[in-house]
Amino acid sequence: MCGIVGYTGHEEACGIIIDGLKRLEYRGYDSAGVALQQQGRLVVRKKKGKIEDLEKFIGSERLTGTTGIGHTRWATHGAPSDVNAHPHTSSDGRIAVVHNGIVENYVELRQKLADEEKIEFRTETDTEVIAQMIGVNYRKNGGNLEDAVYDAVQEMRGAYAIGVIAADTPDRIVAYRKDAPLIAGLGGDCKFIASDIPALLKYVNDIYLIENDEMVVCTPDSVRIYDENRRPVRREVMKVNWSIEDAEKGGYEHFMLKEIHEQPKAVQDTLLRRIDDNGRICLDGISLTKEDLQNITKIYIVACGTAYHAGLIGKYAIEKMARIPVEIDVASEFRYRDPVIDDKTLFIAISQSGETLDTLAALREARSHGARILSVCNVVGSSVARESDDVFYTWAGPEIAVASTKAYTTQLVCMYLIALYLGDLTGNISREYYDHILEELMAMPDKIRQTLEKAPEIEELARHLYNRTQVFFIGRGVDSAVALEGSLKLKEISYINSFAIAAGELKHGTIALMEPETIVIALATQDRLFEKMYSNIVEVKARMAHVVSIAKEGSDKIEAESTEVIYIPQCDDEVTPILTVIPLQLFAYYVAKIKGEDIDKPRNLAKSVTVE
Ligand code: G6P
Repeated sequence: MCGIVGYTGHEEACGIIIDGLKRLEYRGYDSAGVALQQQGRLVVRKKKGKIEDLEKFIGSERLTGTTGIGHTRWATHGAPSDVNAHPHTSSDGRIAVVHNGIVENYVELRQKLADEEKIEFRTETDTEVIAQMIGVNYRKNGGNLEDAVYDAVQEMRGAYAIGVIAADTPDRIVAYRKDAPLIAGLGGDCKFIASDIPALLKYVNDIYLIENDEMVVCTPDSVRIYDENRRPVRREVMKVNWSIEDAEKGGYEHFMLKEIHEQPKAVQDTLLRRIDDNGRICLDGISLTKEDLQNITKIYIVACGTAYHAGLIGKYAIEKMARIPVEIDVASEFRYRDPVIDDKTLFIAISQSGETLDTLAALREARSHGARILSVCNVVGSSVARESDDVFYTWAGPEIAVASTKAYTTQLVCMYLIALYLGDLTGNISREYYDHILEELMAMPDKIRQTLEKAPEIEELARHLYNRTQVFFIGRGVDSAVALEGSLKLKEISYINSFAIAAGELKHGTIALMEPETIVIALATQDRLFEKMYSNIVEVKARMAHVVSIAKEGSDKIEAESTEVIYIPQCDDEVTPILTVIPLQLFAYYVAKIKGEDIDKPRNLAKSVTVE
């Protein structure tokens, strides 16, 4: 969702800010803008559309200024338009604000400003209210920007991160965080603010993570952080070990394709961090003791989107290996449904970004009932990670494409490791089984590579099927959970109406939709359920569906009833999802590519959903 970048230093700020914004494009946006300080005035340029549209709009105009803020907007209050784009300014043009999040009480604040200060609003946004409030405070307090920002946020309810500059407070950015991501970057003689690390990787590796209710004041030589009572805060510098190459396409046409191909390494990195020299899972850095775990009677897994689909597989694995009951829910439902939770509950939040608002709110809800919080997270220092008792990191590296791929497979690895660890601890699995599953996992990077070699075959399939309007994904057991992920991948980037269902449920309604040439992608990788799945395939084939089956090598029988078969390497039923999803990711990618869609930034979607 909205992305913020700010720079103060000695170089021209405009190019640096726009470069940073481009690296936040993945968050999803519909307009972009910059504001620069120029000798006692503010210059604002903003445009609906892509950052390239903003660049074209700026054209050859030389936008000077060594301090500025920029923004990519994902519309919430007010349609995407030039006027609603950020930065927003106060009526006197002395204050400019960029904002990520929502000011929940903006209607009443707006009314108050209109009544008391006779402000005439120019936009429909909640952000203009912030700019106007700060503008009024700044005028009244004789031009103290920090006081003006601080006083404004005292009146604001909601979740937000803001960056503010003033025309006549040179070389200074004031920012504030409340429940929306914000970092500060530390260059030698320049400083930054941003919503996320990739925006800054080209310039700095040293950052401060800003906490909730903290105000940050950046000048070219300093970053000062204050708590909610305006007491100075000392913060450890965090060294970021991602490189700029990690956040670039590296020769691939799209981030999504690059990230699909990074999965062997991402899976391997995630595994190696947690397996010691004796071939045992180690929970270094995780404070959950054996006793804590033995006290646990129930596990809740909560997440959104693709992370939720990884959680579904986690439920299968934990219940099978540890025999602990697992409930799973999407975060937006969990947080409002009065779940049964106590101090014997282990709450597992799964989130790539660690900033998804619903997941964070669900985590807080669980904590308020005494649950122990373990998160599976990709971004070190993110809100979910910071608010958890323990974090099991996925080592996927930065995931930029909106459609999640390598985060999913690494989340699966984490869920298997957690399940195995718990299974071992509760004595439910034998040493042989533990070793066997670990070996299966260790073989995954190579098997993912072998599966990726099918890319030309899958591209060819996509070429035949890309213009269909309806696709069904079916499967049994863990395959039914992978079907959900395959369907999500296809619909989010190709805009084809796709639908996933447990194959056994077909007869209870959905089979009514089968027509000649309906595409059914049938996942049939579970040996123990193969015959059942085979019957489901026969049923849809009898209705003339076009069946593309995904099966393990050696399941040749399936060819008789399938129009096409894509084989994955042999492996234990339990861990197939790591492989089964690969052809589905590739299929979605190639269909979207052939259709000419904007693969990395699909319409209406955001990578990191930081509002409800
Ligand atoms: C958005 C993204 C998805 C992601 C979901 C959860 O919808 O587009 O790719 O799976 O949020 O995000 P998280 O960062 O919490 O895993």
